[in-house]
Amino acid sequence: MITVFGATGTTGAPLVDTLLEKGADVRAVTSDPSKLQKLRDKGCEAVTADFTDPATLQSACAGAESIYLVTPAHRDMRAWKSNAIKAAQTTGVRHVVMGTGLGASPEARLTLGQWHSENQEELKQTGMDWTFVQPTYFMQNLLWQAETIAKDGVYHDELGGPAAWVDARDIADVAAAALTGSGYEGKALGLTGPEALAGEDIAAVLSEATGRSVTCAPVLADDSKATMIASGMHEEIAAAMVELASIAPRGYLAGIETTVSDVLGRPARRLADFIAENRDAFVA
Ligand SMILES: NC(=O)c1ccc[n+]([C@@H]2O[C@H](COP(=O)([O-])OP(=O)(O)OC[C@H]3O[C@@H](n4cnc5c(N)ncnc54)[C@H](OP(=O)(O)O)[C@@H]3O)[C@@H](O)[C@H]2O)c1
Repeated sequence: MITVFGATGTTGAPLVDTLLEKGADVRAVTSDPSKLQKLRDKGCEAVTADFTDPATLQSACAGAESIYLVTPAHRDMRAWKSNAIKAAQTTGVRHVVMGTGLGASPEARLTLGQWHSENQEELKQTGMDWTFVQPTYFMQNLLWQAETIAKDGVYHDELGGPAAWVDARDIADVAAAALTGSGYEGKALGLTGPEALAGEDIAAVLSEATGRSVTCAPVLADDSKATMIASGMHEEIAAAMVELASIAPRGYLAGIETTVSDVLGRPARRLADFIAENRDAFVA
């Protein structure tokens, strides 16, 4: 049995699909009882658990050989992951595949990298096998601004520099390989897409896919932070996101990792294909 936390989320949902395609026994976890039936309709077991409630986390892990552990970017994410790691250890889970972030390590200088690192180091100390799945920016983040791209023909560039965007389905496929295969224990898998694209490049791809002119508008860090806070994000997380974006103009998000093709034996998905597949979302 493989328990998937965050099973309705950006990486967890495609992971459940991939694991089921591989014939694995999957227990999908949600904190929201109204989402249980949709998960069961996929053909897996589904349970509720909350990262703040250790007893529910233990129930979710009971009898599982391995788990996928991811939480949303949340100010309490370290405590939430810690609760789930303890539940996994208590219930005898053998292998934890944990979603963190590219560059997370004890040497990380960025807040999110340090936070992810704390849980990585904690997991290493438990004696359970571990694999870290460390992605860069998700292509799916572009959907957050699909409405304004469709309405105004403007792509708001919060990075100001090139990034090697990765498709969350590739993250899921690599996590599935680590959960069902062998040889991934003790590895940190850095994940990017196959190319680094700047804001102007993304606007050009959007224009091509939609057949309409999409222009690139730079976003000031303060405006970006204010927008995130207005959308309900906690100020501490918004500050960490802006801090992460601030390294893009120096090219630090442009490095390419070959993990997706190394693990899966096929190229990583391209942003142009992601945008083409989601064309309808970017058209008014
Ligand atoms: N987005 C990026 O570009 C990016 C880049 C690098 C790293 N990351 C990292 O990736 C992680 C996010 O991954 P993701 O996008 O796959 O996650 P996500 O979609 O943001 O969230 C996963 C799921 O967590 C569940 N959840 C929320 N509160 C919960 C609670 N209290 N108890 C139990 N479950 C709860 C939600 O599902 P239910 O509502 O069904 O409970 C949600 O669907 C973060 O750690 C972030 O730092 C993100």
